[in-house]
Amino acid sequence: MRYFGKKSMMAAALLASTSMASAADVEVLHWWTSGGEAAALNVLKDDLAGQSIGWNDMPVAGGGGESAMTVLRARVTAGDPPTAVQMLGFDILDWAEEGALANLNDVAAAEGWDAVVPAALQAFAKHDGQWISAPVNVHSTNWVWANKAVLDELGIAQPTTWAEFEAAMAAVKAAGKTALAHGGQAWQEATMFDGVVLSVGGVDFYRKAFIDLDPEALGSDMMVEAFDRMATLRSYVDDNFSGRDWNLASAMVINGDAAFQIMGDWAKGEFLNAGKTPGEDFLCFRVPGSAGTVSFNSDQFAMFAVESADARASQGAMAASIMSPSFQSAFNVVKGSVPARTDVPNDDFDACGKQGMAELAAAADSDSLVGSMAHGHANRASVKNAMYDVVTAHFNGEYDSATAAEELVTAVELAQ
Ligand code: BGC
Repeated sequence: MRYFGKKSMMAAALLASTSMASAADVEVLHWWTSGGEAAALNVLKDDLAGQSIGWNDMPVAGGGGESAMTVLRARVTAGDPPTAVQMLGFDILDWAEEGALANLNDVAAAEGWDAVVPAALQAFAKHDGQWISAPVNVHSTNWVWANKAVLDELGIAQPTTWAEFEAAMAAVKAAGKTALAHGGQAWQEATMFDGVVLSVGGVDFYRKAFIDLDPEALGSDMMVEAFDRMATLRSYVDDNFSGRDWNLASAMVINGDAAFQIMGDWAKGEFLNAGKTPGEDFLCFRVPGSAGTVSFNSDQFAMFAVESADARASQGAMAASIMSPSFQSAFNVVKGSVPARTDVPNDDFDACGKQGMAELAAAADSDSLVGSMAHGHANRASVKNAMYDVVTAHFNGEYDSATAAEELVTAVELAQ
């Protein structure tokens, strides 16, 4: 299959001719190490291979990219940045402010990115009016994944309210099964917290607390209720949750060892990779109480400023490739995410993907689209990490809910 459209060819040719160089290998730093993620990554690798661009793989495991960002910092400090780096939200802007990123304006202009990339993504892909990264997808975090056979066997309908969700988890637990598959890592707890905060307080509360960092919202009764819901979720995880990777938690739902997982739609990549079909084997639905709102994160590839002209040519070709409509469809169908441009047909997407695309567009239209706190789209890393610490300490029983809300106010204040 050819993902490289005519305009992409022109953009790559333009970059290549200005630099008078041939394509070099790209060294790509990323955290796509699970089965589903690797399958999606192969779509990108194959696409570049079709253009004779070699792939130098630099995987650093860990959802949310915390470890990847630590490795990146070390590489840049050593004066040896990778050519292309998977990055989220505010991390991209931080690197742009340091002047470390290449300017992608030529390829963006040749490909018309301005017209097709949603404003919510441009806010992170552009800095001072310059394109500094290529968005590959839009994920969202307020999803629940369920094993359909487990629910059917217990006569449980897909829950639509938080009360129904709690009742469903109680019924699964009473039947001797794990209700909630979870991996005890701070970013996974924070990912659940995105959906829980939306379910308690809606999009306005989410914005006040996570984006505006309003101390009143952070310490409010609503926040206490959000922590109470997290404590409820904690009571439905199995004894071995501590430290478990997210994809192993997905596997518990895939194998029928657990009923539900609250996780971003990269979890769908695991179900698909295991040969499962939405609607038949598994269900996808919004965290009960959060329907109509979408907390998003977008994986983007930021290109580091490099000296070599042929490395720059490869960066341009990679950026053009990532943004071509056919690639956006092929990649996101496998990854579980939805396209980062508004003009990609939904024909090749499954039911969950079609739902995700429609809900993203509707949320953008109704001002109900918010950046994921857990995945670096609400605030800078210092604030995000401060929130992680409180959420995870509460989840592990160090704080009661009232204390956690107070700690959140203090931690966020200190982190700014
Ligand atoms: C990324 C996803 C990735 C997930 C788990 C998120 O931060 O946006 O692409 O699949 O982490 O690794």
